[in-house]
Formats: sequence, C-alpha cells, structure tokens
Amino acid sequence: MHLKKLSLLNFKNYEDIELNFNERINCFVGNNGVGKTNLLDSIHYLSLTKGYFNAIDSQNINHSKEFCVIQGEYERDGAQENIYCGIQQNKKKQFKRNKKDYPKLSDHIGLIPLVMVSPSDISLILDGGEERRKFINGVISQYDRLYLESIMNYNRILLQRNKFLKSVAGYSKPDPAMFEVYDSQLSLYGKVIYEKRKDFIERIVPVFNKFYKRISGEKENVSLKYKSQLAENEMSDLLEMNRAKDLIIQYTSAGIHRDELEMLLGDYPLKKTGSQGQQKTYQLALKFAKFDFIREKSKQFPILLLDDVFDKFDSERVEQIIKVVSEEKFGQIFITDTDEERMKKVLSRLNIENKIFRIEENQNIISGE
Ligand SMILES: Nc1ncnc2c1ncn2[C@@H]1O[C@H](COP(=O)(O)OP(=O)(O)OP(=O)(O)O)[C@@H](O)[C@H]1O
Ligand SMILES: [Mg+2]
Repeated sequence: MHLKKLSLLNFKNYEDIELNFNERINCFVGNNGVGKTNLLDSIHYLSLTKGYFNAIDSQNINHSKEFCVIQGEYERDGAQENIYCGIQQNKKKQFKRNKKDYPKLSDHIGLIPLVMVSPSDISLILDGGEERRKFINGVISQYDRLYLESIMNYNRILLQRNKFLKSVAGYSKPDPAMFEVYDSQLSLYGKVIYEKRKDFIERIVPVFNKFYKRISGEKENVSLKYKSQLAENEMSDLLEMNRAKDLIIQYTSAGIHRDELEMLLGDYPLKKTGSQGQQKTYQLALKFAKFDFIREKSKQFPILLLDDVFDKFDSERVEQIIKVVSEEKFGQIFITDTDEERMKKVLSRLNIENKIFRIEENQNIISGE
C-alpha cells in the first residue's frame, strides 16, 4: 500500500500543490519553517482524520483562507483509493473515501495504517504515566473494539466513582451498595484491559529490543516492562482494600488507570539517566515496535512518517536507522531533514529507490528528483 499523489489546497503554508511520490522513500528537505512537517501532517490527516499536532482543525487552514482541502490517491491491495478531507471554518469536517462520505469518522481509521515519529514523542519518555497509557491505548484500540469499549466504560465508571467519593465526603457511613455497583463494573472492564495490555507489551518487547540493539549497535542495555497493580491483586480486591483510603482522598487510588511502563537504561530510569540520543533511540525503537504490531494486525505495510528523525543522532545511528527501514519489513516512508547533503549521503550508500523534494522558502515550489 502506498500514497501515490497528494494534493493540498490552503493547508497551512501551502496554497495549491500536487506531489507524486515514490513507492519507497520520499524525503522532504529544506530550511526551518518551510513546511516539511506540514506535509507529514497532511498525510497523517488522511490516515487518522486529524492532524498529529493540533486538535483544532480550523487552525490548519491557511491563515488568509476560509477552507482547506487535503486529498490523497493511494494504491491499496491493487485498487485505487481516493481519500478526501475538507475543512471549513465553523463547519463539520468532510471526510470521503472514493467520493462517499463516512457515516462516522472513526470508520476510516485503520484503512490506511500509519505511524508517525516526531521529536514531540519524547514526552512518552519524559512526561507522566498518562502519556504512556495513551500510547498503549492508541495502538491496541485501533485494532481491538472490545479494548476500546472497555477503556471507555472503565473511564466513565471511574469518573462516576470519583464523583461519588466526593459527594459522600464527611459522611461516616456511605452506602456500600453503591460501591458494589461501581467496583463490580470497574473490575470487569479493568480485567479485560489488564489482560490485553499484558499481551500487547509481551508481544512488542522482543521487537522493541531487537530494534534498540540494531539502532544503537548493541551499545546499551535497555528494558521495557509493564507495571500494573493488577499483576499482584485482583481489581475487585484492590478496590476493596483501598476503599477507606479512597474515601479520605476522594478519588480512586488503585486500578489500571495507574498502570505504567517501566523504561530502564541498565538498572536506572531512562528518563533520569539517558542521554538525549539514548532517549531518542528508545523512543524510535518503541515506534518501530508499534509499526510492527500494526503491520501484523492490519496485514498492510503502514506508512511511516519520520520527522526530523536524524536530529541528535550520531552518524552511526543515522546509518543504522536508514538501514533498518530499508532492510526490514517497511513500506513507504516519508522523511524530513534540514540537511540535504546528509540525506543524500545516507541514501547513496543504500541501494533503495528514493525521491527527494526540495522545499524552498516563502514559495510553494517543490522539486522532486
Ligand atoms: N494555518 C497556517 N497558515 C499559514 N501558515 C501556517 C499555518 N500553520 C503553520 N504555518 C506555517 O508553517 C510553517 C511551519 O512549517 P513546518 O512546521 O512544516 O516547518 P518545517 O519545515 O518542518 O521546519 P523545521 O525544520 O523547523 O521543523 C511556519 O512558517 C508557519 O507559519
Ligand atoms: Mg519540522
């Protein structure tokens, strides 16, 4: 599966452009601020019905315009797919597959699998557990409806239980029947989520390790582990054991909403001790493991977007990354870089089809070669 042609009308800094892509590697090179990442973001739109960076659609319309259009022509399973996304100020976003509207935007997700790697993903390592749970949820729920529904139900009931805890604050004896209602449901959904998260992490860890070793040249020892309170206790027991405490602090203190991913470099937390390059290697290996998982589930090669991926890496790692994506089971790739010479040097050492697009400042002139 690959994107053959991309057309943009008034999307961010682009007025009217049309690009024809290579089936394998496409590079966008140019100075800061010329619109390299914007191109990746438009491709992200066509797969996931939204941008990677800005949740507010209308902010992606060119500042001086009222609407924008992103269109992609794909080849998928030997057939052509035309995907259309139209955004207008104060109107509902239009999303079409081969000229037909989708009843629900979410019906489109998964049709054209895609993985984005961006410098902003470093939050996965540096920020709180919420980011890592979002990462896990995002990957599993794309291909598992039961998981998605369980997460939604769990969060809804968790919210109700927390509201209840607040509402009974100060009462000496809240109604235990209410706890029974919340806790039995949280236990039910929590168990499903725990089992699926456990399976998912078990499945990606070896792939993650393989990628980390290859990119780093086996220089470092890293580990990735799923940490959940449910590993030692049943969800229902956890809730019951913590009931008195929950009543004091007025929220639910235990459960799968406290799950974590433990990321270590040697025996120490990567967040505290890893260098920027090591943290970036970790983040990239994790995204490649996600890619591998989605490829298996979707039975398609996801499109891979690598934004500024070479930044902070030494030349050995840069070469390894390019080697990995060209040798392993990867499909179409879009890479951005400010350094055209570096890009060309790396590509020339690999015998792989590619196309370089030079993006020039303050103009929408793009040259493919
Ligand atoms: N809605 C919009 N309308 C017009 N221009 C926009 C809009 N949103 C973003 N831009 C412009 O897009 C440019 C940024 O593009 P982008 O992030 O793709 O740059 P880049 O080539 O990736 O740069 P870098 O090398 O620094 O990452 C900025 O100049 C910004 O003003
Ligand atoms: Mg950029």
